[in-house]
Amino acid sequence: MQNIYPTLKYKNAAFRKIIFILLFVIGIHQKQAIAQEKLYKEQFRPQFHFSPKINWTNDPNGLVYAKGVYHLFYQHNPFENVWGHMTWGHATSKDLIHWKHEPIAIPELKDTMIFSGTCVYDQNNSSGLGTKEHPPMVAIYTGHIENVKQAQHLAYSIDDGKTWTKYNKNPILDLNKKYFRDPKVFWYAPKKYWVMCVNLPQEHQVQFYASTNLIDWKFLSDFGPMGDEIGVWECPDLVQIPVLNSKEKKWVLQTSNHERMQYFMGEFDGVKFTMDPNQKTILRPNAGPDYYAGISYGQLPANHLPVTIAWANNWRYARKIPTYPWKGAMSLPRNLWAEKINGNWQLLQKPISNLNALRKKLAFQKSSLQNKDETITLSTMGIHEDVYECDFEISSSTNEKTGIIVLNDGASGVVIGYDPKLKQVFINRTNTNTSFDAAFAEMGYFAAPVTTSSNKIKFQVFVDNSIVELFVNNGETTFTLQAFPKHSDKTIKTLPSNTVGSVKNVQIFPLQSIW
Ligand code: FRU
Repeated sequence: MQNIYPTLKYKNAAFRKIIFILLFVIGIHQKQAIAQEKLYKEQFRPQFHFSPKINWTNDPNGLVYAKGVYHLFYQHNPFENVWGHMTWGHATSKDLIHWKHEPIAIPELKDTMIFSGTCVYDQNNSSGLGTKEHPPMVAIYTGHIENVKQAQHLAYSIDDGKTWTKYNKNPILDLNKKYFRDPKVFWYAPKKYWVMCVNLPQEHQVQFYASTNLIDWKFLSDFGPMGDEIGVWECPDLVQIPVLNSKEKKWVLQTSNHERMQYFMGEFDGVKFTMDPNQKTILRPNAGPDYYAGISYGQLPANHLPVTIAWANNWRYARKIPTYPWKGAMSLPRNLWAEKINGNWQLLQKPISNLNALRKKLAFQKSSLQNKDETITLSTMGIHEDVYECDFEISSSTNEKTGIIVLNDGASGVVIGYDPKLKQVFINRTNTNTSFDAAFAEMGYFAAPVTTSSNKIKFQVFVDNSIVELFVNNGETTFTLQAFPKHSDKTIKTLPSNTVGSVKNVQIFPLQSIW
């Protein structure tokens, strides 16, 4: 897969100008027309996952915590509900749950699109682009010239991210390569310099660079090819995470590989990343199909757990999902830990605890579901939208698949459960509406092994109209998956194959909308 983007071919500059003006005018009209409708009330619209008001989004960009505010920049097409004209959109939050839309941060420049990257708060004005009194926020991103070049560029803001100025000597890091992208920058305190990880997508490599001023970068080392070498490598992220129940820390390096993400646990000494020698298989942070380009927050306070957000979508069908007037949303923010399970380091992820604040009154609670074909009718509990958290446990004594079905359309829905024969947790959207795209239809069933030995498996499921996120046990396995049932009858059903009482400790909390 060389180039996954639709090519924008403009015959000459004048033609390009006309197209740009036309798109701008269409954009204004579209905005006015859509403002009449009720935004965030549309079919399939996630209510507690971030999505832009209108138009396309893909990767989260520049996740940074600065002066008490979490910034979320994101790949955005301000003009259309398809990929193109890549620009950084911007939103801010005080709790990582409720988001305030901010004006477009970094718009595309003539022939250069603004691809993914990082933002840092340059507190000591190491770049000299601000002042001592007004330290700058510095965004480092890939400038993409279609079919010509990708290089790393810089823009800065001295008003807390409201307005941005592109650096006048861009690019700041240029290998004269067609594919070289997605810089992630963080401060490495022991060596007193900034570190950049950036991908050579075709070579399946992450490169590391160092800088004391965010402008001049020196090559340090590279990592890869390793693990998943099929998809192009995109959006690297390197972050230090706590080891569960210990004072120890590990480094985790994540990359995105065209369809799915992978991670490597190891050590980083400020120059080189060394993978844990025991890692023999490809490790995935998410066993579902819709989790991509995940990166972590930079500059969180010392006692803050690491947080990652990803794009809840998949390049294979992202353009085809049946949502309007927006396309694309972000995953729930999740905290990260490392744990050694059966001698191997593994990533644990749990939804951030601030999400609990969205819980309305407990609507349903039962210590075990008695009937094997039970239907829980959400509307009788005052839940009129598929916007809720459902927690339960499975402990099955038979060999039959055990689980529940959410997003029911009357005949079927998204099945979540445990397969005792294979010792796998699974999620299955095969029998939902898949008619809008063949690749989506092909990608229906997802499963992952359960690594803990207990025979009681804990499920925490977030249902948000068209996004289902599942966290298993201690966060050892997660799934993010989209589904678009034509109609939803607002029920949760148990699988006909369940044995009586195998689904236990069920709790359902309706969740408040963040919009
Ligand atoms: C990942 C990605 C990045 C690129 C951006 C373009 O989804 O392909 O590699 O910077 O999207 O929108």
